[in-house]
This record gives sequence, structure tokens and C-alpha cells, in this order.
Amino acid sequence: MVLRMLKSTPIKTALQSSAPQDAILIQGWVRTRRDSKTFSFIELNDGSCLRGLQIIANSTLPNYSELQHLTTGASVSVIGKLVPSQGQGQRWEVIADTVTILGGADATYPLQKKGHTAEFLREIAHLRPRSNLFGCIFRVRSRLAFAIHQFFQEKGFVYVHTPIITGSDCEGAGELFRVTTLDLKNLPKREDGAIDYAQDFFARSTYLTVSGQLEAEAFACALAKVYTFGPTFRAENSNTSRHANEFWMIEPEMAFCDLQGDMDMAEEFVKYLIRDIREHCAEDLELFSKFVDKTLLERLAFVVERPFQRVSYTEAVELLMKCGKTFEYPVEYGTNLQSEHERYLTEVHFKCPVTVYNYPKEIKPFYMRLNDDDRTVTAMDVLVPGIGEIVGGSQREERLDVLLQSMARHHLDPKDYQWYLDLRRYGTVPHAGFGLGFERMLMFVTGVANIRDVIPFARTPGNAAF
Ligand code: 4AD
Ligand code: MG
Repeated sequence: MVLRMLKSTPIKTALQSSAPQDAILIQGWVRTRRDSKTFSFIELNDGSCLRGLQIIANSTLPNYSELQHLTTGASVSVIGKLVPSQGQGQRWEVIADTVTILGGADATYPLQKKGHTAEFLREIAHLRPRSNLFGCIFRVRSRLAFAIHQFFQEKGFVYVHTPIITGSDCEGAGELFRVTTLDLKNLPKREDGAIDYAQDFFARSTYLTVSGQLEAEAFACALAKVYTFGPTFRAENSNTSRHANEFWMIEPEMAFCDLQGDMDMAEEFVKYLIRDIREHCAEDLELFSKFVDKTLLERLAFVVERPFQRVSYTEAVELLMKCGKTFEYPVEYGTNLQSEHERYLTEVHFKCPVTVYNYPKEIKPFYMRLNDDDRTVTAMDVLVPGIGEIVGGSQREERLDVLLQSMARHHLDPKDYQWYLDLRRYGTVPHAGFGLGFERMLMFVTGVANIRDVIPFARTPGNAAF
């Protein structure tokens, strides 16, 4: 029988059909159902796009009485004819020949039509991708990941998989999750009483990586242009809307590149991603602009059209000190910019993305290149309205002697970084890179205000459900 060989058609494809079809197989979940005298109208969604497909089930179907009890959330498989729709707002609908109920759902199904709070939806993170909003978010997340690879692959960058278990704290912030197989109830001790990690699985202390940068540098010093894109982990106890303990980061690393080239690349990259999402996820963005952030489309257009502002850290601090606004954390030279400062710069003062560069060496990690002023390093952060820091990067210290001095200042033992120092011993080159927070970028292009809502199953302090 012909029907048996039917492959299922995604609803997105069906809705874009150029002609009617005699036999089509559609599989999905019931969003709504209503009855008329002789029909039941079932709206099916399969996640392939925001819109659903209307199925018309005739009362002559043998299981019609069962279908009349179909409720939101049930899964069905429909074989029928794709025909031009009589109704408003859709081009095509399906007149069902058979409707097979795969899995029912009863009145306890939590995603009923009424609006739910973001907090409630986080508690049902296993079901929320079935809602319109979260379907859109996770389709955009997927497209954004693809666009990231496309951007770098088009430019000849090599994708490098850096390790997830590592022995070094790249950022030096001490926000490491330890990886151990030691028996916590019976820890081996050294003579001085300290835990003896030499007896641990890897015969040393190991952690989940906070960044793939150091390893990416090794590959950039061989393959010239590389990038990583993977999960990173930070044990920082910040319960904010922009911090997660497990997030994804994109880290390009470029040999023969300086701070200027690094800032140019970061700006080009962010703009490329916005353009790509505007082009390929237009329907999803429209939903965000209706229900999440009314100014989203305008803001994205504005961001791709104009150059980002660039200011040195020193200029930024002066500007903040003179601006007349009272901040919760006062600004002074030598301290990190807080999120309120970052947001003032991009939202109030410049009203556009801002790249801040040349930070005091004391507040930045050991690997950043020291400037001739001996006070600042070639760091750069890209700040965007609504979020603050989205990119952090720098030119790297390629001079062995200066790097050793910097490590001494940061109380790092060169013995732990022999391989990293080798990169400066053998054919060292100026090189630079940055990290883009994947979820922060996703927040920026969707307007979604909380990082927990752009991650399928978020990990935040006190929360690792699912
Ligand atoms: O500024 P960060 O810490 O830079 C690095 O890790 C460098 N090693 C990158 C490099 O030069 N290769 O982090 C980079 C970006 C931030 O700008 C932010 O977007 C994101 O990663 N990020 C976080 N995103 C979500 N939750 C957190 N806890 C984050 N911490 C950083
Ligand atoms: Mg940073």
C-alpha cells in the first residue's frame, strides 16, 4: 500500500507547499481542538516552525468519538490530503483520512492555553519547548550555533575541540568546579595534612574548563586561525539574569593579529550573527518583538547599521565619574566596571554597542599583553544595551620574559605552564582572540531578559534539576 511508504512531512514544509498533495503524513502535538457539527478542527504543531497546521477530522472517521476527546498536548499521526485552506490566516490545511492517537494527554498537562510565568515554565523545562515562545527560542539557538560555524568556516578558521577537563584556571578567578574520583569520606592526605591529589584519577588536580583559550592559543600558533565552541563552567555564586554556571562560549584565536584586529573581528562577528538571524529566523523574531521586547527589531537594525563605539578604559572611567549619576558601586580608576556602569555606557551615554579597551593590568588575567605604558593591558570588552558585557578578549602576551613577569605578579608557577610558555619559546607570534558568551548573544538577538530562558536546562546556584 502506497500510504505505508509515506515519509512524514514537517509542518514547516507542508505550509510552504506549492501545490496540493493527495497523500501527506503529518506528526505532531495537539495545540487546540474545536468541534463543529460534522468536523473536528485540530491544530497540530511539530516544532519545525512557529505556526501549526490545521487538520480537519471528519465525523465519518471510525475513531471520531475518540478524537473528540483529544486534548492539548496529545500526540497524533495524521494521513490525509493537503488542500488549500478555506479558513483565514493559513494557505493549507489537511483533510484527514486517518488520525492515529500516539499518546494522549489529560487535563493535568501543564501547558494549557493561558499564559504562564517564566518561573513556572522553568520548573517544567522538559515541557516548555512545546510552547510557542520556547519553541522560537530554541530554534533560534540552533540557527545561531550554525551561523557561528558558518562565519568562521567561511573565513578559513579551523574548529578546535579543546578539553573540557583541564588542569589550569585560565581566567585566574578561582571559579573552578573540581573533577575528582577521590572518596570524599576517606580522602588521602599528604604529610603536611593537605589532600593528596597525586592519588586522584589524573594524578593531579583537575577541573571543568572555564575557557578553551590557552589550548586554542597552542593551535593558533600552528594553524593560524582557529576557534572553539563548547561548554564552559564557572563556579561563581552570582544569581543574576546574565550568569549561568554552565554556558557555551565561542573563542576565536588568531595568530598575527593585534588588539585592533581583534576588536574588528568581534564587531564583524556580532553583526554577522544578527544579520543571519534576521534573515533566517524572521518569524521567530517577530514573535519576540510582539511578546518579549517591542523594540527588538529596531534595536537589531540599529546595531548592524552603525559602527560600535570604542573607548579606552581610562576614558570610560572619566566619563562615568563626570556623568552625574550615582551608582550603587562608585567608579574609580583601577576597579572593574560593574554591570550598572557597562549599561550606562551603552544604554544611556553612547546608546549603541561599545568596545572598551586597555584595562589596568591589575584587574585582568595573566595572559594579556602589557602595553608600553606599563599600566594597562590590551584587553577589550564589547558591551551591548540590555546586557552589558557580551565579548571579552585581548591580544596575548607573546614575549616570554614579559609573560614570566606577569605570571609572577599573578602568583602563578611557571612549572604549571611549561607547554604554554613553549609557545613563546618556539616561533612566538603576536596573537589575539576573544570569547563570545553564546547565551548572552542569544539574549541579545531574542530580547529574552533572563539567561535561564535561553538554556534548555539551566545550571545556576542551587539548581541542577533535570
Ligand atoms: O570575559 P571572559 O571571562 O573571557 C574569557 O574567558 C577569555 N578566556 C575569552 C578569550 O579571550 N578567549 O568570558 C567571555 C564571555 C563574556 O564576555 C560573557 O559573554 C560570557 O563569556 N560569560 C558568561 N556567560 C554566561 N554566564 C557566565 N557566568 C559567564 N561568564 C562569562
Ligand atoms: Mg570578561
